[in-house]
Amino acid sequence: MQTPLTEELGIRYPIIQAGMVWTSGWKLAVASARAGALGLIGAGSMKPDLLREHLRKAKATEVSATIGVNIPLIRGDVNELIRVILEEGIKIIFTSAGDPKVHAQKFKDAGCFLVHVVANVKHALKAEAAGCDAVVAEGFEAGGHNGVDEITTLCLIPQVVDAVKIPVIAAGGIADGRQMLAAFALGAQAVQIGTRFAATIESSSHSNYKQAIVDADDNSTVLTLKKIAPVRLKKNIFALGAMNAAAHGATKEEEIELLGKKREMRGIFEGDLENGELEMGQSSGLVKEILSAEDVVKRLLSEYQQAKEKIDTLRIEN
Ligand SMILES: Cc1cc2nc3c(=O)[nH]c(=O)nc-3n(C[C@H](O)[C@H](O)[C@H](O)COP(=O)(O)O)c2cc1C
Repeated sequence: MQTPLTEELGIRYPIIQAGMVWTSGWKLAVASARAGALGLIGAGSMKPDLLREHLRKAKATEVSATIGVNIPLIRGDVNELIRVILEEGIKIIFTSAGDPKVHAQKFKDAGCFLVHVVANVKHALKAEAAGCDAVVAEGFEAGGHNGVDEITTLCLIPQVVDAVKIPVIAAGGIADGRQMLAAFALGAQAVQIGTRFAATIESSSHSNYKQAIVDADDNSTVLTLKKIAPVRLKKNIFALGAMNAAAHGATKEEEIELLGKKREMRGIFEGDLENGELEMGQSSGLVKEILSAEDVVKRLLSEYQQAKEKIDTLRIEN
């Protein structure tokens, strides 16, 4: 299952465990890397000192080379976080939520492999022009923050693949091996998976939140808070309230007030199932058990093989 991208990243399988706030600390990243995937530590919910602690714990393991960091560029203290990442010598960087051009040179000068998350072709081209080594193209099925264009993974991936020369990683809605196969058919060289890994044993999220993923159906999530920054959440009192406010013409300021502070932490980390933000994607309907990261990777690989064999044996009977 090697692709040019897996060779560059030094990973056994073309699977990237996504960087996720309140979810992917060093424990999940190390477990994913041990299973042969790329493990990403999510810096988005960490203060610089805590990030350094997580990076050092990951660096002390035998899989440190296949662990990277996801950093949302929108963070007010982004320069401080970048300083910590570079001081700790991390070489695989995934940026999101911002303009990669502003910081790209710092990472390139430090010899990092730089990947930016995009949700449309225009931003993919910009990331390539900024010097990124690959892009994650993320469809709006994805859990958490989304682009404003609402393009599905099935339509986004081939259009980004046609537009750029750098490798494309598919994300958004991928939770099993059948979908991995589909992503490769569309031209992706790897998949980035969030929701499926958020519900693993090693994820630092609250057990209530993990169970909420397992309990979800196909229509359990909603994209809301579109005036601030669209985010896909499980429907609960908070998310439905936000939808209701939008339907009644809530302004950006009203959405900001409704959101308040620390809503992600409350939902994902503290397990408040009704008043917290439960970031998860449409693929939550496919997640039926809380497994270890290793078992998730093993299942993805066996489901991928089964799906491939099934396609090969398809016959059209006339
Ligand atoms: C709980 C949660 C937190 C997330 N936090 C971040 C984040 O901090 N930075 C980021 O770039 N993406 C974040 N994402 C998006 C993931 O990195 C990933 O691209 C997305 O989950 C892929 O879609 P999927 O959930 O359908 O697998 C988050 C997703 C979830 C579910």
